[in-house]
Amino acid sequence: MSNQTDLQIALTAVNKHYGAYHALKNIDLRIAKGSFVALVGPSGCGKSTLLRSMAGLESITSGDLFIAGERMNNVPPRKRDLAMVFQSYALYPHMTVEENLTYSLRIRGVKKAEAKKAAEDVAATTGLSGLMGRYPRELSGGQRQRVAMSRAIIRHPKAFLFDEPLSNLDAALRVHMRKEIRALHDRLGATSVYVTHDQIEAMTMADHVVVMRQGIIEQQGAPLDLYDRPVNRFVAGFIGSPAMNFVPAVAGDDGRSLLLDLGEGQRLALDRPIAAGRPLIAGLRPEHLVIDPTGAGPIRLRVAAVESTGSNSYITTASKPEIVLVTNGRSPVAPGDMITIGIAPQHVHVFDAETEARIEMLTG
Ligand SMILES: Nc1ncnc2c1ncn2[C@@H]1O[C@H](COP(=O)(O)OP(=O)(O)O)[C@@H](O)[C@H]1O
Ligand SMILES: [Mg+2]
Repeated sequence: MSNQTDLQIALTAVNKHYGAYHALKNIDLRIAKGSFVALVGPSGCGKSTLLRSMAGLESITSGDLFIAGERMNNVPPRKRDLAMVFQSYALYPHMTVEENLTYSLRIRGVKKAEAKKAAEDVAATTGLSGLMGRYPRELSGGQRQRVAMSRAIIRHPKAFLFDEPLSNLDAALRVHMRKEIRALHDRLGATSVYVTHDQIEAMTMADHVVVMRQGIIEQQGAPLDLYDRPVNRFVAGFIGSPAMNFVPAVAGDDGRSLLLDLGEGQRLALDRPIAAGRPLIAGLRPEHLVIDPTGAGPIRLRVAAVESTGSNSYITTASKPEIVLVTNGRSPVAPGDMITIGIAPQHVHVFDAETEARIEMLTG
């Protein structure tokens, strides 16, 4: 990624103000050619603003934007050579699939026969060949999404920019389209930037995930690196489903143990070297917690609820804070049962209670 020529899009110290509102704060982002990058974060965190700034639909207040090595700050959108893919119904309703596909070429003066050939080539790639004469209303949601994609592909853009393109599709189709978009990206050797509020979508589709909050990039990296080593409590709670549990914790006076406060005076001591002193927060992923089958552990928590999907069971305790555990298959326990829980020390994430920054495990 360090080689400039491998960078398709680069932003350095980018800020965006809407009047007094500071929507993007000092954004540094490098998008390698051929990569699939997801921008993820809660609603209003600035994902669309960042994407639209790349496209030139918003002007940036300060900083620099480079596309394929060229500074693009003041270049109009149509000259940036990027394709925005919107939700499926941004199609022209009165045009057939073929007309939707050829439109952008025709307005740029491409000859009719040549545009038709280009449309046929793209349609063959995206599986639309048999549907060229149909109108958008005669297509399924997935087919419309493919037309929207094809309309972008036909322009051979330097990168595809997606803004929550699947949010209007039903759950099953959404899962299918994720795979289809990713496969198409790979087949075309494209560069893609994909905005979503759905961390599962980001994790499953992208090579590189950028987590945003309130106009700031909180963390970026490979999906599983974010899962394994979240830099702060926010990223820890945002990445992973069901969400990580957080409980107050302190380091033992011996500097070798971590004491988790599970409410009602119950403390789970874990063998984990950590400097004593400041208040801590421990993060426990539901999938890392285990129910001690012997029931002999020191911790006793009442089960408040059990939700089963068949493949998994989600067990919520009545403790404060409540704790969610996931087990495979059927639940071994029922509401009202008392359980004892445990976790392997290396699976516990530790954060400073005040700054919420990650604290690394001491070694040796
Ligand atoms: N044109 C605008 N004028 C003023 N504020 C805006 C404008 N567009 C977006 N914002 C504000 O900027 C913030 C980020 O918006 P947006 O990028 O759309 O968030 P996201 O896509 O992550 O949901 C929000 O608080 C939003 O209200
Ligand atoms: Mg948005």
